[in-house]
Amino acid sequence: MSEQDKPEENPDFETCDFRPEDLAEIAQLFRDAIHMTAASAYSPRQLAAWAQSADDEGAFSLALNEGWVRIAVDDEGIIGFAQINMPGHIAMLYTAPRAARRGVATQLLDDMLVLGEAMGAQAITTEASSIARPLLAHFGFVDQGEEVVERHGEHFTRFRMQRSMKRARK
Ligand SMILES: CC(C)(COP(=O)(O)OP(=O)(O)OC[C@H]1O[C@@H](n2cnc3c(N)ncnc32)[C@H](O)[C@@H]1OP(=O)(O)O)[C@@H](O)C(=O)NCCC(=O)NCCS
Repeated sequence: MSEQDKPEENPDFETCDFRPEDLAEIAQLFRDAIHMTAASAYSPRQLAAWAQSADDEGAFSLALNEGWVRIAVDDEGIIGFAQINMPGHIAMLYTAPRAARRGVATQLLDDMLVLGEAMGAQAITTEASSIARPLLAHFGFVDQGEEVVERHGEHFTRFRMQRSMKRARK
């Protein structure tokens, strides 16, 4: 992990691997991030449909187990999580509203790039929300086009983005 990736010299949180006992806290963080942070960009019906993905704890756990999940933790608990699946696809990136704009997603993304490199990925891909798009662009991800997906009866426009791993990490 390069020094310049660090959002602060001494951030008041650290990142580590997800453990199964973190599931309920992560599910609540997922709902909170959607209902509070994403509320500026999506309709109430879209927010409800999106957040619903964590309601079935078994299915949510299975989705998390499809890849490698890192969490960010401060003195009060979990403040963010991100998931990367083989061969280098970022499937989830969420920061708790109380920890927004403290560099949590930046640190988690840096962890994702380290893991992607370890997976041997030639490129890291993701489908970004409109909220995450500026952050990912700042991180060197480039637009690959839009797509519309359906989740629990609601339609979402997502932005396919890709970051080459052929150059040095940001
Ligand atoms: C997207 C998300 C993970 C960003 O988390 P975060 O920890 O607040 O992000 P960071 O603090 O690392 O942000 C770093 C930079 O990214 C950009 N950024 C982050 N959030 C932004 C937002 N909501 N709007 C515009 N730019 C944003 C800014 O440039 C920011 O730097 P700054 O705070 O110095 O201006 C968080 O807003 C979130 O959970 N959103 C709801 C769920 C979601 O959309 N997840 C992505 C699914 S693909």
